[in-house]
This record gives sequence, structure tokens and C-alpha cells, in this order.
Amino acid sequence: MSKIKVGIIYGGRSSEHEVSLRSAASVFKRLDRAKYEAFTIYIDKKGAFHWANIPESFAQSNESSLPLAGQAPEVVLLPRPHQHADGSPKVVFAYLDPAHAGKTEEVDVLIPMVHGTNCEDGTLQGLFESAEAPYTGSGVLGSAIGMDKEVSKRLAEHAGLPVVPYRVARSWDSDATLAALLVDAEKSFGFPIFVKAAREGSSVGVYKVKTREEFLPRLKEAFRYDNKVLIEKGIAAREIEFSVLENPDRSQKPLVSTPAEIIPTHEFYTYDAKYNDENGAIFKIPAEITPEQKVKMTKLAQDIFIVLEIEGYARVDLFLDKNSNEYYLNEVNTLPGFTSISMFPKLWEVSGISYSELLTKLIELARKR
Ligand SMILES: Nc1ncnc2c1ncn2[C@@H]1O[C@H](COP(=O)(O)OP(=O)(O)O)[C@@H](O)[C@H]1O
Ligand SMILES: [Mg+2]
Repeated sequence: MSKIKVGIIYGGRSSEHEVSLRSAASVFKRLDRAKYEAFTIYIDKKGAFHWANIPESFAQSNESSLPLAGQAPEVVLLPRPHQHADGSPKVVFAYLDPAHAGKTEEVDVLIPMVHGTNCEDGTLQGLFESAEAPYTGSGVLGSAIGMDKEVSKRLAEHAGLPVVPYRVARSWDSDATLAALLVDAEKSFGFPIFVKAAREGSSVGVYKVKTREEFLPRLKEAFRYDNKVLIEKGIAAREIEFSVLENPDRSQKPLVSTPAEIIPTHEFYTYDAKYNDENGAIFKIPAEITPEQKVKMTKLAQDIFIVLEIEGYARVDLFLDKNSNEYYLNEVNTLPGFTSISMFPKLWEVSGISYSELLTKLIELARKR
């Protein structure tokens, strides 16, 4: 039996380009070679696709990041469906450079291992859909919802699920409207308040506001990232994360992993704490929560996955209030970090599914759909 050709897509036109190089390197190394052959497609920071052609020997190297491959020949994913002779789908990439004119490359399934804007928000998934390409993870709708912290909360709230209390500010709101929002937030939530851009990641555009005076300046900063900004109650939060996986048995609800707790050593889980400080957070796996909390929060993570139209997999991040013991949805990540030390695969590892098995499951789900 010939092996299934897997196209790992990495890089991406997003602020999380570098994280992607690491996630994709782990995927390349740990893909089950008994079943799959690995191919690599690099998206540069301008959005051009390159046939990266990372050699198989990379799998044995000590490198933890896939290399930038902006010099590799440029290709395009042909946006109409293509099939093998037996009718099964294939994904075709055509070279753009004259040296390879007329030449194409083919794979059977795609793994988008990219994070953030243009990658995780449904944009790339729309291209895959046009080509009827099998790909891992959420489709257009789940990706777009997952990227938007405000729409996510609105849908979860509508389904009766607990979300961090919030208000919404728009870039066109008048000063008077914003002033009224501040009065309302202060009265309803008190300080600290979190101000955050609705569609960002990696704690970019997230601010902790402790005084009335800081509110407007921070809001203006957040508007540099997005015309929609959330104003949230600052929770004395224990940050509890779950990995959720679509159930291969369609008659069963999604599978939820053991939870983890992230305890940031910074004032909150900032960009620096995430990426520039190896001691930026302590990870507790499993999270030390009561059996009752575990049951309830597991159910919440599962419900959120369903309500937000997520497919394949996602990491669901909840807050557990240290004072009141109430718990809420903070956010979901439909393309969570996927390095061998990332939370998403690590939680499945302790729940009994190895990194390689997890990849196989994601690919099988993609091909089944
Ligand atoms: N309402 C809040 N109350 C307390 N801490 C918060 C709140 N919102 C965000 N944070 C802190 O900011 C971090 C980043 O915010 P988050 O909404 O998860 O955005 P991102 O998508 O960038 O991870 C969280 O991990 C948490 O430490
Ligand atoms: Mg987060």
C-alpha cells in the first residue's frame, strides 16, 4: 500500500509565524512514517506559498524549528477540486517560477500548522474548501468564530454557557459612549478591567487596566489592533485549559483531555511570559481542581466545542475564579501550539494518546470528513 502524502503548511502571514516554525518541525519529525510521507509548504510573511521541500533527514536533526523557505520555488494551491483515478481527493500545487513551468506537486491531505490571523481565522480554510482539500482542524465557520473572542462569547452566552463578563467597544464609538462604558464597567466589574483586541492571539493587544485614568489610553492602544475591543471583568483567575478532540465516532460527543493549570509568573500570561521567558509560567498537569469542578468544567469545554462549531480539535481555555469558584469561558484556540512540549499534545499524552497517534487521529478525521 502506498503511503498517504501529507502536506504540512507552516509559516503564515501572521504575528505567530515563528511559533509555527516550531509547531511544524515537531509535526514533521513525529508524523508516523509507517503510514505517511511528509511534504512541506512554507507561507512567507507576505503570504506567498513555497514548495519548501524539507528533506526527510530533517526528522533526525536536532533543529526545533523548520527553516524559513522564502527562497524555495513559489507555488499556488490550485483552488478547484482534483481527484486521483479512484475518485479520492488530492491537492495540487502548481509552480509559478519559469524554471518549473507546467510542473505540479500533489499531496493527499493538508495539516495547517500555522497560527493567528490569516491562518487560524478561516481564511486559509476557505482556500482549502474551494479545492475540496482534506485538511486537519476546524472549517471556515469554526475557525472564524474561534478567532473572534467577542463572537465566541456571544454564542456561548446565547447557549447559556458561562463566559467572562464583558462589554464591547467599537472604534467608532464617541468619547461620550466610551465614557459611559467605563462608568458601567467600573460599576459592574470594578478594577482591574481587561481591555483586549477581539481578534488577536499570543496576548497581543491585551491590557490589564487598574485605574480609571489608564482606561482610555489602553482602549486606544487596543484599537490599533482591531476595531472591536472587549472590556472584561478582571478575574482573579486560575487558568485551566482542556484539549478537545472531535470524536471519530460521529454518534458520540467530542473527547476532552485531562485539564492543565497555567500559573503565570508575570502579572498575567503576557506575550513575554509566553515566549520570552522560559520561566514565564508554571504548568500543572493535571490541574489540581476538585473532582466536582473537573466534571463541570469538562462538560463546559465539551459544550463550548460544540456550540462554537469547532471541528477536529481545539484547546479550550477556562478561568476558575479563585474567590468565588465560579468558572467561565475565556477563549478557544482552533490551531493551538503543537510543539512536542505544547499544551495541546501534552494533555493528550497524559490522557493516553501519544503525539504521533494524535496526528494520525487528526489526519483520519480530516480524510473522513
Ligand atoms: N478577564 C480577564 N481576567 C483576568 N485575566 C485575563 C482576562 N483576560 C485575559 N487575561 C489574561 O491575559 C492572558 C491573555 O488573554 P487571552 O484572552 O487568553 O488572549 P490570547 O488569545 O492572546 O491568549 C490570559 O491568559 C490571562 O492571563
Ligand atoms: Mg489565551
